Amino acid sequence: MLEDAIKWNQKHLEHPMPDTPSTLLVEFLPTLLNLDGRKALDIACGNGRNSKFLAQNGFECDSVDISEVALSLFAHLPNINTFQEDLDLFRPSIDSYDVVLNFYFLNRELFPSIIDTLKPNGIFLLETFIKESDGTNSSEIIDEKILNHNELEEIFSDFKILYNQSSYITRREGQEAKIISFVAQKNE
Ligand SMILES: C[S@@+](CC[C@H](N)C(=O)[O-])C[C@H]1O[C@@H](n2cnc3c(N)ncnc32)[C@H](O)[C@@H]1O
Repeated sequence: MLEDAIKWNQKHLEHPMPDTPSTLLVEFLPTLLNLDGRKALDIACGNGRNSKFLAQNGFECDSVDISEVALSLFAHLPNINTFQEDLDLFRPSIDSYDVVLNFYFLNRELFPSIIDTLKPNGIFLLETFIKESDGTNSSEIIDEKILNHNELEEIFSDFKILYNQSSYITRREGQEAKIISFVAQKNE
């Protein structure tokens, strides 16, 4: 925990991350506003770019990250509750959230608790790196941190898939990497 926190604190200090909310989240806001509840969880929230967007749009957001440097950037804002936690250990409680965000962070062991923490009709939004359909890895990201082709469809097979598109982004180092943008809704 401590080593990871130090590493991520340093990364946040040396390379501040973009502060604009994800396009996927912005595009899905009208759908999220149709839900009955307004309680959101942002997993590995970083500088809070997506938490802040939800908080500004009527949600109360619980924002979890290992880096206190990242959390300190937005912890003072209204409708935000920050939690410095190691997501290797932290698990959200059951039936608690209308929306769960998981952007550019992958811990497969969290998926069962993401499913459990969503309320009926709750919506899960994810964007992160994914392998090519032939199984090759176009980025330099280690296999443990990159999704396999069709992995999400299998894990969220009981959900209604609202959006599932892959594309390519250019990383800070200039290298192209394949990502998946995925939105799925839990059944009633
Ligand atoms: C690439 S950033 C993504 C931040 C944010 N989700 C976004 O899209 O802007 C990954 C984040 O995961 C956090 N992180 C890494 N390992 C973690 C862990 N074990 N527990 C909690 N947070 C962790 C880092 O501090 C960092 O803020």
